[in-house]
Amino acid sequence: MDSLERLIPTINKLQDVISLINQPHLLSLPQIVVVGPQSSGKSSVLESLVGKDFLPRGAGIVTRRPLILQLVHTQDKDEWGEFLHKPDTKFKDFKLILGEIENATRQIAGTKAGISSDPINLKIYSPKVLDITLVDLPGLTKVAVGDQPQDIEFQIKDMIMEFITRPEAIILAVSNANTDLANSDSLKLAREVDPEGHRTLGILTKIDLMDKGTDARDMLMGNIYPLKLGYVGVVCRSQADINNRKPIEKHLNDEKTFFRNHPAYSTYSDRLGMSYLATRLNTLLIKHIKDTLPVLKENINKMLKSCREELSTYGEGLDGDSGKMFALILQVIESYSRQFRESIEVTMENFME
Ligand code: GDP
Ligand code: NA
Ligand code: MG
Repeated sequence: MDSLERLIPTINKLQDVISLINQPHLLSLPQIVVVGPQSSGKSSVLESLVGKDFLPRGAGIVTRRPLILQLVHTQDKDEWGEFLHKPDTKFKDFKLILGEIENATRQIAGTKAGISSDPINLKIYSPKVLDITLVDLPGLTKVAVGDQPQDIEFQIKDMIMEFITRPEAIILAVSNANTDLANSDSLKLAREVDPEGHRTLGILTKIDLMDKGTDARDMLMGNIYPLKLGYVGVVCRSQADINNRKPIEKHLNDEKTFFRNHPAYSTYSDRLGMSYLATRLNTLLIKHIKDTLPVLKENINKMLKSCREELSTYGEGLDGDSGKMFALILQVIESYSRQFRESIEVTMENFME
């Protein structure tokens, strides 16, 4: 499985433990935020990650309000979306979700290209997603058009900064493969908030559209703009693909074929494309989880200790059968929590292999 789905069993196990100690915040996964110039393919990349068609995409400024997209894992077979501004409506048809994002954009940001920092909050419930939040943002732009204020460049920058400054954000810094990476605004912004590059992953889109005779290898290898976590090159659906409603699964297969058959990329095609991006994100999330494990374990230990203390006060003065029963309960709890801690470690180790 090469999507973010791969982590679901681990997260579920950990969440079982966390629900026992009643501290849900312990396993909040980082937000994934896309940053990049207008029409560089940000919405397309996010949508491929989720594996569903529901984000407005296209030429010009299409994403005009931040979209905070919270994926919620359910046991339910059904998949549906819910907007914060329409709490009583379950959107089971993803086309209607797209329509509602467009409506909500027009309502607040007008019909003409205006922007608003007021976010749209959308939750997608599905058995196939991780509990994670993705943030789609308007693209970086320099020149105001339509209803846009003269200082649009700075308004959009501020909006982006608000999200990427948070240390728990993973930044997907998107650049067109056919533009000059050395001048990439997304990489510059990311460097401002993440100078060490611990949480910035470079994404090169539109590799299929590069000039004949050029290829992205130098950029991908970090020779143009080095990045600690490196780059992933992708091909998303073109405008014609969108117009023709090309299914996402078909496109993902075509993308694989494109890289495998391309003379410049065939030798390392397994490190390119959307599925590799999902793998890289899985790895970053695992690292995040690993970093939070010590705190988790400590909390389990604390819970165990207080449980033991509480039980022993109940058990005090009890003798005979009742006393034996308390001792037994205590033993069961201890062994149960030891097993939990071990299973966390084993689960994590399996995923690191
Ligand atoms: P955003 O403004 O950064 O969110 O970009 P969108 O995702 O809306 O994409 C802008 C346009 O570029 C759309 O028409 C997409 O179909 C097209 N597009 C995005 N990525 C690619 C790509 O990798 N290859 C091609 N050919 N078109 C792409
Ligand atoms: Na666009
Ligand atoms: Mg967009």
